[in-house]
Amino acid sequence: MSLTRRQFLWTTAASTLALRRAPGGAQEREPSAGGSRFQHGVASGDPLGDRIILWTRVTPRDPSAAQSIDVRWRIGADADLRRIVSSGTAQTAAARDFTVKVDAAGLQPGTTYYYAFDVDGEQSPIGRTRTFPVSGAERMRFALVSCSNYPAGFFNVYAGIAKRLDLDAIVHVGDYIYEFGEGEYGAGAAINRIPQPPRESISLADYRARYATYRTDPDLQEAHRLFPFVAVWDDHELANDAWSGGAINHNPEKGEGDWAVRKAAGYKAYLEWMPIREVTDPGIHLYRTFHFGGLADLVMLDTRALRDRQVASANAAALADPSRTLMGAAQEAWMFDQLRASQRANTPWRLLGQQIMFASITPPGARPTNTDAWDGYPAQRGRVLDFIDRERVRDLVVLTGDAHSSWGFDIPRNPWNGYRSNGGGSLAVEFVAPAISSPPPAMFAAQDGNEAAAAVRVALPHLKYLDGVRRGYVVVDVTRSAVKANWYFSRDVRVHSDAEVAGGSVVCERGAAHLQPA
Ligand SMILES: [Fe+2]
Repeated sequence: MSLTRRQFLWTTAASTLALRRAPGGAQEREPSAGGSRFQHGVASGDPLGDRIILWTRVTPRDPSAAQSIDVRWRIGADADLRRIVSSGTAQTAAARDFTVKVDAAGLQPGTTYYYAFDVDGEQSPIGRTRTFPVSGAERMRFALVSCSNYPAGFFNVYAGIAKRLDLDAIVHVGDYIYEFGEGEYGAGAAINRIPQPPRESISLADYRARYATYRTDPDLQEAHRLFPFVAVWDDHELANDAWSGGAINHNPEKGEGDWAVRKAAGYKAYLEWMPIREVTDPGIHLYRTFHFGGLADLVMLDTRALRDRQVASANAAALADPSRTLMGAAQEAWMFDQLRASQRANTPWRLLGQQIMFASITPPGARPTNTDAWDGYPAQRGRVLDFIDRERVRDLVVLTGDAHSSWGFDIPRNPWNGYRSNGGGSLAVEFVAPAISSPPPAMFAAQDGNEAAAAVRVALPHLKYLDGVRRGYVVVDVTRSAVKANWYFSRDVRVHSDAEVAGGSVVCERGAAHLQPA
């Protein structure tokens, strides 16, 4: 598509949809009486062939009122909502923080829809969304993102993504919010982005206020309004380096209370505020699969809620302990079933959406630098690689966030033994999305960061792409013959701008299981 045509389509879409952009910066949690009833925008997510989750939040006139609020919803085929295909009324109340979630069904596959909510005669912004195809798909394109830290910078990445016209979805692999207080990990005061509450989020009210702050951001609102999200939480939706029974940043001795209470609060707020189809199985987890038109199966993992505790990098015995799990036994078996079924169905691609770096970055004789990632659970990773190898699972792409830096990897059994730098011996590939706004790792951001990056490239023969410092996102293009990753970066997230620069590109040809420059 030519730039001219893209611009034309965008202009048309923008005027038709009556773009509604609030000013940036921290805002009051609830507006004064008479303000907009939809202060936090609209969102959609978890697209299937026949249904999609629609989301909004009603800003209550009286937050203390006990009675529920009726909210009308409509979804239609045109941007003016004249051709309605489904509608209904949902209820919300203080018990769910006045958020509204509808699973709108009876839709056509691979189709663009528009939707809106009404309350007391006031209409929300009109959102746009799209179901996934069920067969015959030739192309899938999505943005892979992670680590959106409100006080650390503007959400320029969401603004850049919102200018696109051609995405099927935005895949967010965690750290959608950060729990820290203002100034603890990103200083928002200088750019009028102080999160609420300004101290660390611990209680349900805290986490709800935190999501409300993030959703006042106009760029995030616009990304949600224009594209369905497929999201999964990582640790900062609760607390840094969370595991099933606690977190490094959870300190009962400082009055932070019981971990189970905090975990339930963080997860409740996340599920209230995110356009996610909630599971009814027992236990808290978010793993689920999306089928994209016989072209790709997107298997979303939850490597956070069910994991065993991290161990020290010096504790070789604990690291090697085969009983330690990152996913839990039930999820591990479920994932193997999903990959096996996808391979047997001859679906060209399997995409594994998950939070933390899968590739090993620990050369022989070294200690792992990050035992919160798969490097800290090598037995778990070994079981996955055994399975891929044994069951001949082909054309597998791992999608990752968390690292606040951009990486592209081949995934061999052992990068330092039996792997050739031309990709021979690789079983799969991995794309790691940079942060939207969180700061890059100190080793790359330091004065000698370029030297550090050069040393990393030498140490990791399976590393095919690295940008250690820039904030941005990845556009992943899937066709029957190849999966391509294109990195895009924001120049400076401390300055509000939707400008972006293209980074590198790598491609995995079908059947190759390794990356090459695109
Ligand atoms: Fe992060």
